[in-house]
Amino acid sequence: MPNSDSPITIGSDHAGYAMKEFIKSEITRLGKTFQDVGVFNEERSDYPLYAAKVARRVSLDEKLRGIIICGTGIGASITANRFRGVRAALCITQEMAKLSRSHNNANILVLGGRITPYAEATKILIAWLDTPFEGGRHEHRIAMIDDPNIGK
Ligand code: RB5
Repeated sequence: MPNSDSPITIGSDHAGYAMKEFIKSEITRLGKTFQDVGVFNEERSDYPLYAAKVARRVSLDEKLRGIIICGTGIGASITANRFRGVRAALCITQEMAKLSRSHNNANILVLGGRITPYAEATKILIAWLDTPFEGGRHEHRIAMIDDPNIGK
């Protein structure tokens, strides 16, 4: 179960850097803390590296939550979801953010820094942080994701 007291691990590539800085200020405004794993400037960088830095930490500690931002959010999502136990959700609406938590128990929020307006990103962030996992019928579906024999 993600612990809302743990710092949120946040990372981006160059295309998500500006939004990362904005989201960090929003996290602080909301009274929460973060750990930034980079990038730390807008020089060209490779999204798989920074997505992996966040995803690896979340994969190793089930209490952690992460946020990853690249240009579209697509490359970051593809990368993060390779890590066991990671459920990274690319959200472009508040509704997606709510459902990614209540149905999918998403432990990483992915944003598209070149896609989503900042005002919308704030709404997505708040919905994602405030929505608990529903459990119930969604519990076994989450377990199925990590079943190595699924689909055989
Ligand atoms: C970088 O140009 C861009 O490809 C990257 O940020 C991301 O959108 C990849 O999915």
